[in-house]
Amino acid sequence: MRPLTPPPEPVEIAAGWLQLRPWHPALGDEALVMFGDPELRRWWVTPPEIGENLIETWIERRLERWRAGENLSLAIQDATTGALLGEVQLTDLSQWDGSAWIGYSTMPAARGRGVAPHAVAALTRWGFDAVGLHRIQLGHAIENAPSCRVAIKAGYPLEGIMRSSLPKSTGGWWDMELHAAINPADS
Ligand SMILES: CC(C)(COP(=O)(O)OP(=O)(O)OC[C@H]1O[C@@H](n2cnc3c(N)ncnc32)[C@H](O)[C@@H]1OP(=O)(O)O)[C@@H](O)C(=O)NCCC(=O)NCCS
Repeated sequence: MRPLTPPPEPVEIAAGWLQLRPWHPALGDEALVMFGDPELRRWWVTPPEIGENLIETWIERRLERWRAGENLSLAIQDATTGALLGEVQLTDLSQWDGSAWIGYSTMPAARGRGVAPHAVAALTRWGFDAVGLHRIQLGHAIENAPSCRVAIKAGYPLEGIMRSSLPKSTGGWWDMELHAAINPADS
């Protein structure tokens, strides 16, 4: 098993019309719009509490977690205008089996334009090539049809259902559909 080598500081990844960039406090006002979206809050396991200093705290925590190698989160921005379009992240990196999970959300106004699948595909390539991941898993509540479309379009075929595995922010658990992508260099 090769060791995973996440870079110690957040990186920037060019992805054509999208740019994946380190989180920065200047993105705070736009991120607040994303957090307030009821659709996002429905599916996130722990949606952030909207309150004072939320953005500064949230962004600082994202940077800390990158440096700890726990959560490699990047802002998805329009490469031309710099507008915040969403977030994409690799979490739960495991040196044991070379796996990680991928997660994503987009700004309400940016949906339906293929932002999430394009960003997921770009972060996946980077995760395989630069970090050395072997397998990346993607899970969504069965009821979250748009998220399932993202998985399929980004190259994550469906593997099965993990019953009662995804905590709901309102209590209880969703049944989760599990998708995964395997590093082509390992097959
Ligand atoms: C799921 C999500 C990330 C999709 O992002 P996106 O950039 O809109 O992705 P796409 O443009 O590829 O659209 C995916 C699907 O969303 C649906 N969709 C299309 N336009 C939409 C719109 N304006 N609003 C909402 N959903 C739309 C369609 O079913 C589309 O599939 P299709 O391309 O086969 O028609 C986004 O809807 C979101 O942030 N949802 C809330 C948070 C969330 O669910 N995160 C994932 C948790 S697992």
